[in-house]
This record gives sequence, structure tokens and C-alpha cells, in this order.
Amino acid sequence: MKLTWVMAFAAGLGWHGVNAATKVYNFTISSKTIAPDGFSRDGLVINGQYPGPTITVNTGDTIQVNVINNLTVPTALHWHGMYQRGTPWQDGTPGVTQCPIPAGGKYTYSFSTAGQSGTYWYHSHYMSQYVDGLVGALIIQDPSATSPLPYDEEIVIPLSDWYHTQSEDLLEHYLSRASKGEEPSPDNALIGGTGSNGCAGYVPPGTSCNANHTTKSFSFTAGKRYKLRLINTSAFANFWFSIDNHTLAVVEADGTDLTPQYVHRIPINVGQRYSVIVQANQKAQKYYMRAQMDTACLDLGEVIAKESLALAPVIYKGGASTFNSSVDWADQLVDCQDLDYTVLRPYHAQVAPTAAEQITLSWDFHGDPVTNINRAFINNVSWVANFSYPTMINEYYKRPDLSQDQLMIRPNTSGYVEVVLINNDLNEHPFHLHGHTFYVLGWGNETYDDATDRPKFNTKNPLRRDTSTVPGGGWTVFRYKADNTGVWALHCHIEWHVEAGLLVQLVDQSWKIPQLNISHDALALCAASNYSHPLGTSKTTLTSLKNAHRKRSVTIGRRML
Ligand code: C2O
Repeated sequence: MKLTWVMAFAAGLGWHGVNAATKVYNFTISSKTIAPDGFSRDGLVINGQYPGPTITVNTGDTIQVNVINNLTVPTALHWHGMYQRGTPWQDGTPGVTQCPIPAGGKYTYSFSTAGQSGTYWYHSHYMSQYVDGLVGALIIQDPSATSPLPYDEEIVIPLSDWYHTQSEDLLEHYLSRASKGEEPSPDNALIGGTGSNGCAGYVPPGTSCNANHTTKSFSFTAGKRYKLRLINTSAFANFWFSIDNHTLAVVEADGTDLTPQYVHRIPINVGQRYSVIVQANQKAQKYYMRAQMDTACLDLGEVIAKESLALAPVIYKGGASTFNSSVDWADQLVDCQDLDYTVLRPYHAQVAPTAAEQITLSWDFHGDPVTNINRAFINNVSWVANFSYPTMINEYYKRPDLSQDQLMIRPNTSGYVEVVLINNDLNEHPFHLHGHTFYVLGWGNETYDDATDRPKFNTKNPLRRDTSTVPGGGWTVFRYKADNTGVWALHCHIEWHVEAGLLVQLVDQSWKIPQLNISHDALALCAASNYSHPLGTSKTTLTSLKNAHRKRSVTIGRRML
């Protein structure tokens, strides 16, 4: 890991804001042959590594990342879960908040972590690049906070599905008539960036695979308590995480501390994070840590993910080197759903404030009327990134709305907005909102009914997070505060679905965007840009979608409450 620390003030003063420091990281993005599961393929790496370097700061610090793009294609890094209050142009979402960093170009991201702590991550938000490896963890410590449960050490554990084919090729196939809308099936599962059995499946001629590559293991000292920071960095897979014979105390969801809840197995969907505390209190030997894809949600027809389980050994120091009594928990989880929203309760209780406005967003997948290529439509609009004219920069310049093809919601309030997500698709979708933490008021498996479901919302001390699963054929309702001036993507975090258009933009205080102090460097990225959408096939899609969108009237279901 190549990083430089610049402490702006002497550390250790103990008060937030008083000793806020700027921590500087230098990230060089390049492509390189990597073999996380033994199978060699071209991957995208930061400073030569996959996953990328872990960013660790104290709350209130400013994170500065100097990015050098050594790829032959553009890129951009998104800081998943960061509020970016006052710096919405640093959110890293091409087509929404910025023009991409060109091939061979440089850009510096700089943003504050004030008011946030916990487990976050970063990833490329340019096309499907993160699926090829452009991901890393971002941890914000709060030294003055009391932990819901004490622990001795912490370990960051990304979980991921993994493909043996370049994402660009997978995407091109997915966004073609031939795929019939069926998503690319992952080849393997990884824990902490490595996996096994990569050579068991398809190894095309001319490629190489090393079945004896080193995989990640975890070492426990008997009696110690470990905080595991779990991050699902997948393209597609919802994971079930467990450690044989060990109970997990769930103490954090997406940056919100929780009153400890004890489980044997936890579902963690794409983009979500959990911290669990586990005690090394079992017989000293080896145990399996498991990340099992919930294959029921992958809806792959006959093509089930080739290797859907990742195993990593947990080794007690000085213990027996056998897995003799390591037994998987018998507990079954409900398929394709988050843990019960009434069970996970924030440690620092908050009542959900009442909302001024309600917005209903409903989606489904169907063929684009002209090309018949399968796309996702939210309130009849399928998102296509406009890399040369990101919507926030357009609002800043007060350009006429160049983007008829974009669904943008501009609440009239700086207060709370209630969003009703209606999933007309039979599969679950993990929805993530940029720039905010929201209150999860409820979800259901059936048709949403405002009259009967609304009175049942869990408003007392609801879970607060930034990524929540909307069950197949069901709904989820959340509330967020629309006071963070900027344009914020709200999208399904399954990467294939983002590229198929399952993204909508929520504009906070649109009237204040022209007054933002967008940095010269950020605007310069656009001055130079004349990007077309890099997938040849989508050019036709783009035109036909524009025509299709023009013909129908967009229904933005909104009402004042
Ligand atoms: Cu993790 Cu739109 O991002």
C-alpha cells in the first residue's frame, strides 16, 4: 500500500473538529493480471492491489485522494455512504455529479467525514468497472464513541462475487437481445479478496489457473473479541455470512451503531455493510467462515453460479489444525430479504421525523419499445448516463434540461421526503441512496397499499442506513432529509441493473445548486470532455429510448403529506 499521511494538526486532542486532520492517499489506477481465486484474468487495481487500499480515518477528518488514471479508458471513484455535504461534485458518479477522469488523467477527490463513522467503501462508478476489481474499504473511527459492545481487535472483510470474464464483455452481452435480460452468472465467491476452486469451473484455452494459490485465513486468539466489518462489494450476489460454531453480535448497519442483536447467520446484500462482534470462545482448532450466495435471488434459470460458496479458515492460535468440530449452523434465512427491520434497532434512538412530501417510484424490466433489448424502467424512464453533461453540472450552469432521458425528482422541501419504492419485478433489488442515510419505515412482499401499510410504519426508532433491499414483487418505504444540496443517485446496486437503467436522481434544494462552489478542477473535467456512451450497442438504445421517453408522459407519483 502506497500512502502518505499528512496530519494538519497534532493528533490526540480528543475533540471532534478540533483535531480534524487531512489524510492524503495517492491512488494509481491501472489494469493488471490478477487471480483472486487462482484463475488469471485482467483486473483493475489500485496501487497494484485488489481489493484497493483501505482508507482509515477518524470522524471529522478530511479525506484527500489523488487519483492517477493509468487506464486507457475513463474512470471515477464513488465514496459509498459519504454525505459529501457541501461537496456534491466529489461524489464520483459520472453522468450525475461529474465528467469522468479521462484516460491518462488526474483528479483529486477531497471531502469531509464530519458526522459520520463506521464501515463504508469506495468503488468505480464508471460503467461496470468495479466488477473488475476497482473497490476498497473506507473506515471511519470515532475514538470518543462508546461501542455498543466492547471488542479487542477489528478486521475488515469484503465479500464479493467474482467473474472470469471482463465486465465489459459481460455487459455488452447483457445489454443485447441475446441475453433476454438474464444477468451474467458469477463464477465464484470471494472472502477478503480471495476464493478457492477457481480452476474447477470453466478455464478457457489460453488462460491459466493455479489451484494452489494462497487464500485468505483469519487468526483468532482464544478469549479475544473481534469486530468484523463486512462489506458486500458484489456485482450481483446477496450473501449469507456465518462462522461455524460462533455467534455473531450485529452492532452496525451502514454506519449506524445498533443495539447488539445475536444471530448465527446474516444476510448482506450488494452495497450493504454490517459490523459483527464475535468472541473466540470455542475449542481451539480451525473453523470455516462462510459466505454463501443466496442463489434464489440470482434468478439464473438453469445457469446457477458455478461456485456460490466461499470458505475461509478461522484458525485459533496454538490450536489443533483440524476442522473436526466445525459445523455449519442449521438456521435457515428467508431468501432475498434483509434481516427483519424491527429487530435491528439503532443504539442511539431517533424517532423518524414526519415527511412533508411523498414520492412513489415503481419499476419493472421490459424490452425497449424500439430495439426490444431488455431495460429497467422507473416510472417509465430508463436511465442512460450522459457522461459529457452530468445532471448536477447542468443544473449548476442553469443549462436548459438537456436530459429528457433522465428522471429527476426535485422535492419542494428541505425537510423530510418519504419515498415509496414499488418493485414490479419478481426479484429483490438492493436500493442505495447517495449522500444520505435514510429511515427504513417498512417493507412488504405484496402490493403496497398506502391506506393499510402506512399506519403500520415503524417510526419509533427505525433502522437508519443507506442501502436497503426491496423484496421481489414488494415494496420498501424510507424517509430522508432533502437538505443536502446536490443531485443524488438512488439506484439498485446490482451493477447490471444500473447499466440497464435502474437509477433515478433526487435533487436536494435544486434552487441552491447554481450557488455551489464547484471546484475549477471538477468543472475542467467537463470542459475537456466529449464522451459518447462507450458501448456501441447502446447508442441505438439511447436514441430509441429518447424517442420512446418523449412519447409517453412521465408519471412522477408525488403528493404533499
Ligand atoms: Cu455504491 Cu451509486 O453506489
